[in-house]
Amino acid sequence: MNAILQASPELPLSKQLKAGSSSDHDSVDNLVMGARPFESLERYGCFLRLQHRFHGAIDALYEQAQLNLLLPGLRELPRYQAVCADLRDLGLAVPAKPEAVQPPDAWHAIGWLYCSEGSNLGAAFLFKQSQLIGLSESHGARHLAAHPDGRGLHWRQFVALLDGLDITDAQKEAAIQGARDAFDFYRKALKASF
Ligand code: HEM
Repeated sequence: MNAILQASPELPLSKQLKAGSSSDHDSVDNLVMGARPFESLERYGCFLRLQHRFHGAIDALYEQAQLNLLLPGLRELPRYQAVCADLRDLGLAVPAKPEAVQPPDAWHAIGWLYCSEGSNLGAAFLFKQSQLIGLSESHGARHLAAHPDGRGLHWRQFVALLDGLDITDAQKEAAIQGARDAFDFYRKALKASF
């Protein structure tokens, strides 16, 4: 059994996902900042292509019927189209849509969605940085803007859905693995984008 799960099986899923992927998060955070995405519009363009690779690859998950049953409202949340609009705002070509990731089951997919939705929470900082190079929620930084309900409320609602799932230990383990796979995918996409 996964060490995190074994150590604290009583923790709600969201906390286990966080504990199980926090070192991955920190490495991705450091890699993104190390790539200096807000130093110039040119570097921001590389960041947008990275976001395009990630959000494009997971876009179809937001449409999946089984995942929408588990997480009602999921289909309202994808940010892929906003990333494409950001590229167009900056006069950049929108690359072909990346191949969709195929997590082995819904529980792994939930880990990927945790990674994506959580990234919108940390995006508060990225959004502020993007404003310093002249971008906004209606030009170039649409996909980093807060949800209309506010980032905090939106995140708490998503966490409540995760923590309300009736889920076995094996399924939790699959979700944690899915979150790690998502961060790993992001790390590889980052290296290919900058
Ligand atoms: C420079 C880049 C990044 C910075 C500075 C950053 C920063 C943060 C911060 C400050 C939080 C906590 C926010 C809060 O609790 O109010 C957070 C949460 C989170 N971020 Fe990032 N982040 C970055 C990139 C990413 C990326 C690229 C991903 C995913 C691909 C990601 C996924 C997450 C997730 C899943 C959470 C939620 C953690 C939880 O369970 O509470 N972050 N981030």
